[in-house]
Amino acid sequence: MSLKVKIQKLKKEKNAVILAHYYQRPEIQEAADYVGDSLGLAQMASRANADIIVFAGVHFMAETAKILNPAKKVVLPDLNAGCSLADSCLPKAFAAFKVAHPDHVVITYINCSAEIKAMSDLVCTSSNALKMVKSIPADRPIIFAPDRNLGKYLIQQTGREMLLWDGSCMVHEAFCVDKLLDLCQKNPDAVIIAHPESEEHLLKTATYIGSTAGMIQYVKAHPEEKFIVATEAGILHEMQKQVPGTVLIPAPAIEDNSCACSECAYMKVNTLQKLYDCLLHECPQVDVPKDVREKALFPIERMLQLSK
Ligand code: 13P
Ligand code: SF4
Repeated sequence: MSLKVKIQKLKKEKNAVILAHYYQRPEIQEAADYVGDSLGLAQMASRANADIIVFAGVHFMAETAKILNPAKKVVLPDLNAGCSLADSCLPKAFAAFKVAHPDHVVITYINCSAEIKAMSDLVCTSSNALKMVKSIPADRPIIFAPDRNLGKYLIQQTGREMLLWDGSCMVHEAFCVDKLLDLCQKNPDAVIIAHPESEEHLLKTATYIGSTAGMIQYVKAHPEEKFIVATEAGILHEMQKQVPGTVLIPAPAIEDNSCACSECAYMKVNTLQKLYDCLLHECPQVDVPKDVREKALFPIERMLQLSK
């Protein structure tokens, strides 16, 4: 029996659901019940009625699913599936930052730990960040953490001053604009689409900026075009499925001369074998301490409410 068939069988026996992010390996995306961006995954997790949630993504995503489903088992194929952006905002330092700015409303990007979410007033993802910022009354000062690139983009889009935490995603900061411009010269008919975790100089070259789901929707709405895609390369699997006839070129990364793509090492530690193993053994489980979980639930639920 193939691993994929074994996973489907076991999933039914255990009443489990498999949620996967677009950056996961293609074979994992194919085995999942739902593939989506961070918002879609949080929404699916909030509606899950399975006994076990297998989260094929990174740790902060599985934590969010656990916060929304404390009574369910949430398993992650590999606990090493972390996130450089989440790691750039540690609880002790962030608590001190908050204390230094007590009058500020705290909006955090979902790519952060449960402890950081527990210190937040509102959570956002790349697909609803603009809406979340706009939901805060204009006279209230805002702290935005942890992604400085998304933060700068939001400031530019809303005209609203925000205090930014100095964090970033190593994958989205690895794109090389010089190589990108070379690629544009060779492909003058290509349109650049980018994820807002990318740096400002790269975003300036983009025709469309949005979440992974937003980028897929944009490409679907413009099937006749050729695209240079500036986000983690895993997205190309679902994107190409949606627009089989369209040419999709991954944006080039700085130190990557062999393969012109950027991959997130954290997302890629999950494999189909590990997915099977974690479903079989129901571990490793992702747990969040009760006090943290209860505090983190409010800003996540507020986001889900405002995203309806
Ligand atoms: P979205 O899929 O929500 O756009 O987020 C991208 C990301 O960096 C996930 O780690
Ligand atoms: Fe974190 Fe970046 Fe990887 Fe997303 S792509 S999980 S933000 S390191």
